[in-house]
Amino acid sequence: MANQAYSLGFSNVGQDVVVWPQAKIVSPEVISLGDSVIIDDFVLLMGGAKTTIGSFVHLASFVSVVGGGEFLMEDFAGISSGGRVYTGNDDYLGGYLTGPTVPFPYRVPSRSFVHIKKHAIIGANTVILPGLVIGEGAAIGAGSVVTKECEPWTIYVGSPARALRPRPKEKIIELEAQLRREIYNEKGQYIPKRMRESQDGAQKQ
Ligand SMILES: CC(C)(COP(=O)(O)OP(=O)(O)OC[C@H]1O[C@@H](n2cnc3c(N)ncnc32)[C@H](O)[C@@H]1OP(=O)(O)O)[C@@H](O)C(=O)NCCC(=O)NCCS
Repeated sequence: MANQAYSLGFSNVGQDVVVWPQAKIVSPEVISLGDSVIIDDFVLLMGGAKTTIGSFVHLASFVSVVGGGEFLMEDFAGISSGGRVYTGNDDYLGGYLTGPTVPFPYRVPSRSFVHIKKHAIIGANTVILPGLVIGEGAAIGAGSVVTKECEPWTIYVGSPARALRPRPKEKIIELEAQLRREIYNEKGQYIPKRMRESQDGAQKQ
């Protein structure tokens, strides 16, 4: 089976996007993908209220994004395998019955959001609860449970996730600038891989 990126009917899909054939995408019409995105096999991505994924983003195998709320993931962010993002929740606190088998109004799930900012990296099997912002450049250690907003450029670990130490940002910002100079044109448009390769080929001749 082939790459699904250009056949599923996403609301927007950039260039050099690969959605592997065994990724399960629900409501692609509310999902927008930037350039250079890879969604591995066995990802479950439910569009919810709205899903916006930037450029240079990887969702590794067995990541799931569910919950019916809004999901925003900025450029150069990634989620390692098994990461679980919840953009909404059943009522765990005793107000209502729970679970999708129960009809309304006996069940009242909350619809919220998760926002993963630029350069944030989420370690394997991490759980991110609804209503949270993962700050720019934050790194979350494997197996963490994120229950509170994460500050930018900080490494977090554990359950509940707690700040371990700062994550230096200078090199990452510098490398991003270098990469943008190389693979975006003067108008700020992404240059697809095939065009870069053909330019390289022409220069070598
Ligand atoms: C968070 C991380 C980057 C920290 O790496 P590090 O700086 O080498 O960390 P250290 O091994 O020095 O550990 C520092 C402390 O944090 C703890 N710690 C490290 N990672 C942890 C984790 N994921 N969960 C809980 N505690 C963790 C260590 O036990 C240690 O605690 P101590 O000081 O009480 O002994 C790394 O442990 C990690 O989880 N990386 C994610 C890897 C991953 O998911 N990769 C997927 C493919 S990209």
